[in-house]
Amino acid sequence: IISVDPSGAGVSISNSMYGVFFEDINYAADGGLYAELVRNRSFEFLPADNRAYTGLTAWTPGAEGGGAGSASTVNDGARLDDRNRTYLRLQLANSGSGRYGVTNSGYNNGVPVRAGARYDFSVWARTDAADGTPVSVTLHDPAGQPLAAALEISVRNDTWTRYTGTLTASRTADAGRLSVRAGGTGTLRLDMVSLFPQDTYRGRPNGLRKDLAEKIAALRPGFVRFPGGCLVNTNSMNGYDAASNWERARAYQWKDTVGPVETRATNVNFWGYNQSYGLGYFEYFQFAEDIGAMPVPVVPALVTGCGQNRATVDEALLRRHIQDALDLIEFANGPTSSTWGQLRASMGHPAPFNLTHLAVGNEENLPDEFFANFERFRAAIEARYPDVTVISNSGPLSQGATFDRLWDLNRAAGVDMVDEHYYNSPTWFLQNNNRYDSYDRNGPEVFLGEYASQDALLFNSLSEAAYMTGLERNADIVKMASYAPLLANIDNVQWRPDLIWFDNDESWGTTSYQVQKLFMNNVGDRTVPSTVTGAIPEVKPINGPIGLSTWATAAAYDDVKVTTPDGTVLFSDDFSNGAGQWRPLANRGSWSVVDGEYRQTSTSAQDTLVSAGNITASDYDLTLKARKTAGAEGFLIGFGV
Ligand code: AHR
Repeated sequence: IISVDPSGAGVSISNSMYGVFFEDINYAADGGLYAELVRNRSFEFLPADNRAYTGLTAWTPGAEGGGAGSASTVNDGARLDDRNRTYLRLQLANSGSGRYGVTNSGYNNGVPVRAGARYDFSVWARTDAADGTPVSVTLHDPAGQPLAAALEISVRNDTWTRYTGTLTASRTADAGRLSVRAGGTGTLRLDMVSLFPQDTYRGRPNGLRKDLAEKIAALRPGFVRFPGGCLVNTNSMNGYDAASNWERARAYQWKDTVGPVETRATNVNFWGYNQSYGLGYFEYFQFAEDIGAMPVPVVPALVTGCGQNRATVDEALLRRHIQDALDLIEFANGPTSSTWGQLRASMGHPAPFNLTHLAVGNEENLPDEFFANFERFRAAIEARYPDVTVISNSGPLSQGATFDRLWDLNRAAGVDMVDEHYYNSPTWFLQNNNRYDSYDRNGPEVFLGEYASQDALLFNSLSEAAYMTGLERNADIVKMASYAPLLANIDNVQWRPDLIWFDNDESWGTTSYQVQKLFMNNVGDRTVPSTVTGAIPEVKPINGPIGLSTWATAAAYDDVKVTTPDGTVLFSDDFSNGAGQWRPLANRGSWSVVDGEYRQTSTSAQDTLVSAGNITASDYDLTLKARKTAGAEGFLIGFGV
């Protein structure tokens, strides 16, 4: 029997209790939340970012109508900007009306366009042809059939100039191509070839992809933690020496991510790809404001967490990072007369962004070294901005003694708030509902910056929901919590589970997304005391029906996993074909629609599936079915054992 005392005094729950953690992992930024449709728009991709890259990644040179020429990427003194090093050089040798140029293949399977929608094209260009260079910009399908009327541009002189125009899609396609081809002869230089839907979230220029931003906004997050994650620690000890450092991996520095996009650096991403910084600190602050969430940036502490075991010994570098943190607060909150407040105003936001919290460090694993640096950051920030809460770190819970040591240090120093992370089994979440009941109410508050029940089954989501009741019961000490990671591109996954999945033109939330949405849209003002009497069933994994997994589209499967009551994984399959592509539904045997459901119940037809693990069809009688429920964002897949 559950008894609730509605008039009893519970704890207050703050409006910023639940938020989101955005990290550029799983291609969450470029090709994801950032609405830019051209991949490698500034020709900066380097093998140092990813061995598969060249300056022409995503670009294919080509000619039409008897055109001729050559295309190469060049990093020399003719560059557009010191931070935007490489550009495209086209040596044109056309005759007659021939054209030569390059075609971009976009993200995932191409550039998605919607009939009737308008797209803003822009390019920086210069030409040494005395009479100028005619340039045609076309949107077309892979077979070359037009998707929009061509845009004609005349490049006039040999100084970098931005040219713009609009393309209106005549039909819908998810695998479009963007071609930029020039006539005549001479040398044409191009950089920052860009195509944006006009229909970005809230119509912001350099804006965000609407469906993804709307799904995040629909959660009604109380805060946005960004930009990482392990991302922020990457290369933070490389120093700042411009001459040598531009050519190799740099630390994630917020100053690289602001100002006009053509002056922003690009960089290797911790997760193994190039990040353009088109989605930068201004855009993060703007997005947080647009969705009514508190911005919570994370800066590196110069002790590389995420298992890298290094601490800086470079005092000048540490001092510069501390100054960068102070400058960041000025960028967010400073008056327009201040250096960084002025930059914010020049980017279109004279009013402050009202930054109140800043986190230093992520998943630290050298406790004493981290804490020494943290205290330097905290002292500097509190001296200048006493109202800003400086959030410390505990490292991941899985680090055991390190986690405990970090908590001891934070507690002894009277730190305001500590960021905890854990990714655990659903059983752990069920068994640890009371985790915060015994936390010291006089110690630091808790920011649960990253957590998820591993895997993506409904059981996991239910265990998260159960756990969140424990967070709310302890809302006097657990002040903020965010599931992680937030976004994943189905073709580029470094981490799973994730809350929201997408390809280049569709997106869908997992069952965990629905759980987060339910809690975040119904945050109470306070808890009410409740008691349970009678036998409380022992918490153990489901032994019988295994659960449900969210399903992307009719053409894609999600993970499934079968575990025994003691947690042994009997079978696990992401249904991948081994080449990083997901197998289409049709390849999974004899599916048919029964009672309005996609269904397959033949035991023998599932031998392939079962033999991938260590159970056999004769051990278990499996029923596998998928159903698109009314109004759902995806399919559900269920197993019975
Ligand atoms: O959320 C994914 C990663 O998990 C984060 O980058 C890191 O902080 C943690 O290990």
